[in-house]
Amino acid sequence: MPNAAITGWGVAVPDRVLTNQDLERMVETSDEWIVSRTGIRERRIVGANDSTTSLATDAARKAMEKAGCTADDVDLIVVATATPDDFLVSQSCLVQAEIGGSAAAFDVGAACAGFVTALAVATQFVNGGMYNRALVIGVDTLTRYIDYTDRGTCVLFGDGAGAVVIESSSEPRGLLSTELGADGAGHKHLYVPGWAQMVPESADIFPDSRPHLQMNGREVFRFAVQVMGDAALKSIEKAGLTLDQVDMLIPHQANARIISAAQRQLQLPEEKVWINVDRFGNTSAASVPIALAEAADAGVLKEGDNVVLVAFGAGLAWAAGLVRWGTDGTSPATPAS
Ligand code: UT7
Repeated sequence: MPNAAITGWGVAVPDRVLTNQDLERMVETSDEWIVSRTGIRERRIVGANDSTTSLATDAARKAMEKAGCTADDVDLIVVATATPDDFLVSQSCLVQAEIGGSAAAFDVGAACAGFVTALAVATQFVNGGMYNRALVIGVDTLTRYIDYTDRGTCVLFGDGAGAVVIESSSEPRGLLSTELGADGAGHKHLYVPGWAQMVPESADIFPDSRPHLQMNGREVFRFAVQVMGDAALKSIEKAGLTLDQVDMLIPHQANARIISAAQRQLQLPEEKVWINVDRFGNTSAASVPIALAEAADAGVLKEGDNVVLVAFGAGLAWAAGLVRWGTDGTSPATPAS
């Protein structure tokens, strides 16, 4: 059975920077509170010329360039997002309209756990032999749904996209194990109330007021600390590995304190955990692929390294996976079945 090696990766974030000092002027908060409670110093926010499509497309093009392929070589596009640009058309089709090609294209919805979930889905298609090459994108523009008078949420989120290309490999590379889970009963701890009411019953027009994200921060924090470490441990175990064989942890970048808790549970030294929450805040589905791409570009991921990806978010849902890094043994492209 083939594996699905990660052969390309790319990142796109908006140019517009929102700092803690900017937020101090908008709501009753302080740089000291935000840094000590979350680790965040600044985040990127979509501007007039940015969209979920533009960010996803930019990241996808970079990933394909790194993998040395074009959209015509891609058999499948899976986009993980909670903030698509269209209600009816999948975000993956909107990306395909920009990059070209005729790959199968659909979206996966698992909020901040979306990218790891989408990678698991795409990997199944490659491992099963149905497709040779897939583009997996995590993208969100959640700041469009943030209430910038609510200090409990507006300091946390940023926008961005991260993408990877995975391709069939005869070597044990790519996602070797997956641990997915959900607790739908907790969905009201992090959701967008009023979203359903935005859907007109017949020909009614949409109301003017835009719905905003609401969160019970303490409950989500408690949930996150519990599932991050547990899910990561299970994915390591399922891959037949032990903790001392883990080379890098790429966690969802929601809060530095949540990441520290996972780091302690996995008994990893600081240098084995990639953290960029200080620069990007919580970019939802983009958080893990942005961190993964940064770690790869920084040269800290070596051929054969065992990399743990783990994320949690609205749903409440979580997803973890053990990735064996590297592209050695990647088979040449063959036509999709
Ligand atoms: O992808 C998943 C997305 N969500 C998350 O990951 C969220 C997980 N939760 C968290 O990260 C944390 O719960 C927060 C960072 C959101 C909040 O930190 P906390 O330590 O749990 O604070 P808290 O909610 O217990 O609030 C403590 C105090 C409260 O004031 P009082 O009631 O003690 O007087 C809040 O009103 O901090 C206040 N507070 C703020 N103060 C200054 C809440 N937000 C702010 C703020 N600036 N931005």
